[in-house]
Amino acid sequence: AKVVLAYSGGLDTSVIIPWLKENYGCEVIAFAADVGQGEELAPLREKALQSGASKIYIEDLRHEFVTEYIFPMLKAGAIYEGKYLLGTSIARPVIAKKQVEIAEKEGADAVAHGCTGKGNDQVRFELTFRSLNPKLKVIAPWREWSIRSRQDAIDYAAKKGIPVPVTKEKPYSMDSNLWHISYEGGVLEDPWQPPDEEMFRLTVAPEKAPDAPEEITIEFEQGIPVAVNGQSYSPVALIEHLNQLGGKHGIGRIDIVENRLVGMKSRGVYETPGGTILYLAHRELEYLTLERDTLHFKAHLSQKYAELVYYGQWFSPLREALDAFVDKTQERVTGTVRLKLWKGHCLPVGRKSPYSLYRQDLATFEEDSVYNQKDAEGFIKLFGLPQQVWHMVKKD
Ligand code: ARG
Ligand code: SIN
Repeated sequence: AKVVLAYSGGLDTSVIIPWLKENYGCEVIAFAADVGQGEELAPLREKALQSGASKIYIEDLRHEFVTEYIFPMLKAGAIYEGKYLLGTSIARPVIAKKQVEIAEKEGADAVAHGCTGKGNDQVRFELTFRSLNPKLKVIAPWREWSIRSRQDAIDYAAKKGIPVPVTKEKPYSMDSNLWHISYEGGVLEDPWQPPDEEMFRLTVAPEKAPDAPEEITIEFEQGIPVAVNGQSYSPVALIEHLNQLGGKHGIGRIDIVENRLVGMKSRGVYETPGGTILYLAHRELEYLTLERDTLHFKAHLSQKYAELVYYGQWFSPLREALDAFVDKTQERVTGTVRLKLWKGHCLPVGRKSPYSLYRQDLATFEEDSVYNQKDAEGFIKLFGLPQQVWHMVKKD
């Protein structure tokens, strides 16, 4: 039998290799995805083989991650529980999809992952596996084995004679990609306790950010960001660039207590500098270019979209249908937004578009020729009629 394992090179997934061989008597093929976590992945080849994998696939998924996952989510305006920009959630389907492709190519019988049985990630991986190839058996060692702590894992590695990754144990769990870094667990489990400043890797503390604000512009074409300060960037480079700009100004830190799909609340701290800027800029352009009812209706849909992403339902018919709606709304979300970055804040200060619905001649309080103020009188009477009647009846 053959298993394809989503492998990170960390202690947990390293130990899973010998564990699978011992418990399932199978060949293990490791698969490491580059989703912009900023780690050198080449050294994983040697590491995986030393841990007993028969081979390893290292795949650069960054472009696909941005264009087919992050950008649709950005256009949808999806934010989970009003705060979380879904950085970990959105990376799972792109990784799991490639894993299924490798399993099929290799004629593997099963796929495995290193997610715990208490979190959301297991759901996201497995819904993708089941959607794309329900014949593959899924192995989730954390739900089966007796390893309970880092020390257990180190002991098991020693017993199996595999090298223990030298990285020092962090007092929290981290997940990193092009869109964000998440920190959870360990010292963060007390929701009253603020995180240590040393924890953050993408952003400076707002109070340490430059005193002088920096103004930038972002250009969008049909809801997709294409240029910063007048210079075009490829999708991956654009996010990297905005991460740098946002990070320097302390933008995009969030600290939340969120509802996991598996029921419990958990505390998470996230850094999404470029993403925070892009969400604000994109929204600002929608304020200018979407007609009122569409803008208001889309907000309901954003909420649903965020749930689908968080719950791992990326490959669902509803997500596809929502994307079709969103793409329709984005046809004229083209233009430029001007933003001020300053000490943790990202403030829109200007916007323009060839499709702007803002008409100065309509909005002005000066005399105009298109809007007749007398029209307002009848409108107000009819618009107010229901509540006027309600009050009349209440008085009687
Ligand atoms: N709570 C976030 C989410 O569910 C972050 C999960 C972090 N995952 C991890 N393997 N460290 O999307
Ligand atoms: C995990 O349980 O593997 C990480 C946390 C989560 O998925 O929510």
